[in-house]
Amino acid sequence: MTTQSESDITNTFVPQRLDTRAPLNELLSSRRSPRAFSERQIEPSKIVALFEAARWSPSSANEQPWHFVAATKEDTRIYNALVESLMEGNRRWAQRAPMLVLGVAQSVYLKIGRAYQHAWYDLGQSVANLTVQASALGLAVHQMGGFDAAKVRELLSIPDGYEPVIVFAVGYAERPETLPDDLRKREEGPRSRKPLEVMVFTEEWGKPSRLVEVQNSMTSDPDSRN
Ligand SMILES: Cc1cc2nc3c(=O)[nH]c(=O)nc-3n(C[C@H](O)[C@H](O)[C@H](O)COP(=O)(O)O)c2cc1C
Repeated sequence: MTTQSESDITNTFVPQRLDTRAPLNELLSSRRSPRAFSERQIEPSKIVALFEAARWSPSSANEQPWHFVAATKEDTRIYNALVESLMEGNRRWAQRAPMLVLGVAQSVYLKIGRAYQHAWYDLGQSVANLTVQASALGLAVHQMGGFDAAKVRELLSIPDGYEPVIVFAVGYAERPETLPDDLRKREEGPRSRKPLEVMVFTEEWGKPSRLVEVQNSMTSDPDSRN
């Protein structure tokens, strides 16, 4: 089994402690979407583990609508096609990552021929699982919706019935000093989330749920926050 080495951990730049009402598992609290990637190659066994994590995700009717076109820098033609399909703002930093992956969703249930409304949801969940596995292996994932789906379909001959949904960069995160100034500032800037009150409701749509009030949190000890 692959374990996280000390050098993997020291490579990980965690710019701020997350503000949470209850402690999160470190695999989640240490996750972020970096732009600064080291050129260090990803060990082949870790690449397999990432896709196993995606493969064992849940999906509607166990249809498993996710497909991936994955390329390391050795797969020059495919890697370059993925880089070319990215919006310029993403291309600047993403082309340092040692692996780029296109996530593709199947548009119909193959067994029954009906439109697969949850295909994007299921693909997203498989990428989420892959991302958690990446954290466990000392790797980072940065997902990108900023790419040209028509271009990537053409460059990679994606057949009809399959939708290019996301491109993601995978690799070892590096300290932000390696980035151009504007990107470094964004990388070092504060990370934020909307409060739980605007997303969790019980009695009535829009009314904050009592289930996420501070006194219900698992701990009020500030030292146990992430
Ligand atoms: C579907 C999706 C599309 C995204 N598209 C882009 C993108 O095109 N470029 C980019 O730099 N980040 C992109 N992101 C990353 C988000 O900006 C990032 O997850 C968000 O700002 C929260 O930061 P964090 O992941 O570090 O917590 C995308 C993330 C998702 C899930």
